[in-house]
Formats: sequence, C-alpha cells, structure tokens
Amino acid sequence: MTVTLNVNGADHTVDAEPDTPLLYVLRNDLGLNGAKFGCGLGQCGACTVIVDGYAVFSCTTPIMMLEGRQIVTVEGLGTIDNPGPMQQAFIDEQAAQCGYCIPGMMMRAQALLNENPAASEAEVRRALHPNLCRCGTHMRILRAVLRAGAAMQNGGAASGTGTCRSMPSPVAPSWAAPAR
Ligand code: FES
Repeated sequence: MTVTLNVNGADHTVDAEPDTPLLYVLRNDLGLNGAKFGCGLGQCGACTVIVDGYAVFSCTTPIMMLEGRQIVTVEGLGTIDNPGPMQQAFIDEQAAQCGYCIPGMMMRAQALLNENPAASEAEVRRALHPNLCRCGTHMRILRAVLRAGAAMQNGGAASGTGTCRSMPSPVAPSWAAPAR
C-alpha cells in the first residue's frame, strides 16, 4: 500500500503495510530519527510527534490513519543553525541528560504552547504527564518549557502546525504534582 504523508510541510509517498506505526516510517523510510523508540506501547512518550495539532504516540499510530493530516516532528521545530524557541529553551536550560526523551518532551510541550504559550507551570506539568524521563531532569525540562512559552509570547514563532491539544494521561507521575 502506498500512503502519502505530510511531514514537516513536505509530502512523502511511502510503500508500507497500512498498520505500520508512524514511528517506523519516520525513522526507517524518511530518515527522521528525532522521534525515539522507547517502549513501543504508548507508555513512555519518547516517540511523541504532533498530528493535526495533537501530541500523539507515533509508535502506536498506524500510517493508514494519517493520509491528509499534518505531521510535525522535532526536526520541524527548527535546525541546528536556526533552532526554534522550544529547542533554544532546552539548550539554554541544558535540559537534557541522556537526551533520549527530549524530542518527545519538546513535541508534547510544543503542542501545549501552540495552543497556550502562557501556560502555567501547573499546566505544563499536567500536559507532560504521558512523557517519562529516567535521568531526572524534570525541573530543567519544566524551566525550558516555561522559557519557550515566554519566548513565544515575546515574538518567537509558534512551531508545528495548527492548534494543539495534548492527550490526557491516565497516570500522573510524581513529578507532575502541583508545585507547593
Ligand atoms: Fe511510543 Fe514509548 S515508544 S510511547
């Protein structure tokens, strides 16, 4: 089956089984290795991308659902020479340790900020529930997302496409508890 996927504003026609996870096509067919394979089960968030404004797990999203939709990966947020506000904020806050979770964190945070760049710390914590970091850089990630929101409010362009809503998580990790 051939499917045409719009990724980061460009159309790509791929030949793959309809139930192939988007993550596999991104990494293996399109050479977009930003989204990571963590669990493959929709439980860690390392594979998060934005589809029509929603932060989604690309490891559990089959490509047959995606024709005509707009997909944004971390590569669509900016470049090494011209990082987007989210990427620059993560650099400025040195928010990565091993870095494996960071593209997914950025995409879910971008989904939130595209809808509301003035999101509060509590709203950021809530939005990032589905994404796990095993290194423990959560506080730096929080600071980076808030910094990115401030930059976007001060004229930094929103990245990705459309309005964004972040899928709720069934389980809130301890770090997502409201600040005291
Ligand atoms: Fe997709 Fe873990 S790899 S949620």
